[in-house]
Amino acid sequence: MNWPTTGKINVAIDGPAGAGKSTVARKVAEKLGYIYVDTGAMYRTVTLKAIRAGADMENAEALADIAGRVDIRLVPEAGGQKVFMDGEDVTDPIRAQDVTRLVSQVAAVPDIRSVLVRLQQDIARERGVVMDGRDIGTNVLPDAEVKVFMTASVRIRAERRWKELKDKEPNVTVESLMEAIAERDKSDSEREASPLRQAEDAVLLDTSEMTADEAADRIVELCRQALEV
Ligand code: DC
Repeated sequence: MNWPTTGKINVAIDGPAGAGKSTVARKVAEKLGYIYVDTGAMYRTVTLKAIRAGADMENAEALADIAGRVDIRLVPEAGGQKVFMDGEDVTDPIRAQDVTRLVSQVAAVPDIRSVLVRLQQDIARERGVVMDGRDIGTNVLPDAEVKVFMTASVRIRAERRWKELKDKEPNVTVESLMEAIAERDKSDSEREASPLRQAEDAVLLDTSEMTADEAADRIVELCRQALEV
């Protein structure tokens, strides 16, 4: 495949938790030789910092203060990215259940969103970025050349998450995960600040019946079309 070395584009991938965004976005970035940026990891990092600081999760001002002071670095590496919080590698700790449970609350604070959105826009300034999240096509990179809204049924998303978790957490059930996923969808879609919604110019990709490679190939095809215009 011959990709132009100049004329890079930005790719925005949004959608609910468990739709396969990060796996697919990573593959797309790899195929294009682009940088993959997982914006959920940024919200998770602020959440971890707040938990460690013993912050009051109901106090938006205290949370925003933490977001303004934490140094978040995403370092691309083969097949993904490492996440650093004030120099510490927090790639694994930000995936812990307590962070997952509290992150929606943190991500709903407008002042936290504006700090992180600015950071995300800086990273994408030179283009050549595949960014995944909830508000990338609508708010962070409204001028991204390719926008995809990725979904899958709640059951499929819960089954995928169960496969990832079952060894670490043998008591977890698909049903409990379906409930948690539906709950998170609701709070992400109904919050006031940049709710999860499909951008008007985004392509809808339902991955319920697709492998990650098939989804990635479809997006790469969209990128090829965008690069040819
Ligand atoms: O994709 P994830 O599960 O790692 O995202 C963690 C949380 O952050 C999730 O509740 C949605 C929120 N988020 C957001 O509000 N905006 C983004 N651009 C990315 C994630």
